[in-house]
Amino acid sequence: MKLHCHYLFPWDKNDFKIFEYFHEMYKMSQYIGGYADDEYINCTPKDQFVTRFQLMHYPLGGGHIQVHQHPGDAFKVTTISTLSVKGKDYQTGGVYFLNENGEKVHLDEHLDFGDVVVSYAGLVHGVDAVDPHKKLDWKTIDGRWTLLFGNVVSDQWLDGQKKSKDG
Ligand SMILES: [Fe+2]
Repeated sequence: MKLHCHYLFPWDKNDFKIFEYFHEMYKMSQYIGGYADDEYINCTPKDQFVTRFQLMHYPLGGGHIQVHQHPGDAFKVTTISTLSVKGKDYQTGGVYFLNENGEKVHLDEHLDFGDVVVSYAGLVHGVDAVDPHKKLDWKTIDGRWTLLFGNVVSDQWLDGQKKSKDG
């Protein structure tokens, strides 16, 4: 894994106002996932589930994430917004899903700025190295950017469950 990942929660006090700005995407993701509009919007880490946006930056020089899938407990669908364009912002790499034969199906060459990829969270996927032939520089904002939305199980709630189980 080689990336920057910024988590943005509804209770964050900052100037991003991401849940206001991307309200339509949030509502669409909730609808597709089978949730009410405001299902987890007021939840905090003491609750079982929380909702969040994830701003992902895969830097030029090999930004990537290994093949993986998400548990279907609360993260039923993934919605990935395209914030940079292959062929313009970077030349190689990008998101792929494995088909039934275990072959990579790459998507980035079919995506434009603002496009949203919707998939079942259980699909096996990853991000191939973005322009690995270039020099890596963590300080620039160059590279591949995406914005994801999803509901997840709270780590704090999970820790509490483990402690009460262990006695
Ligand atoms: Fe993923």
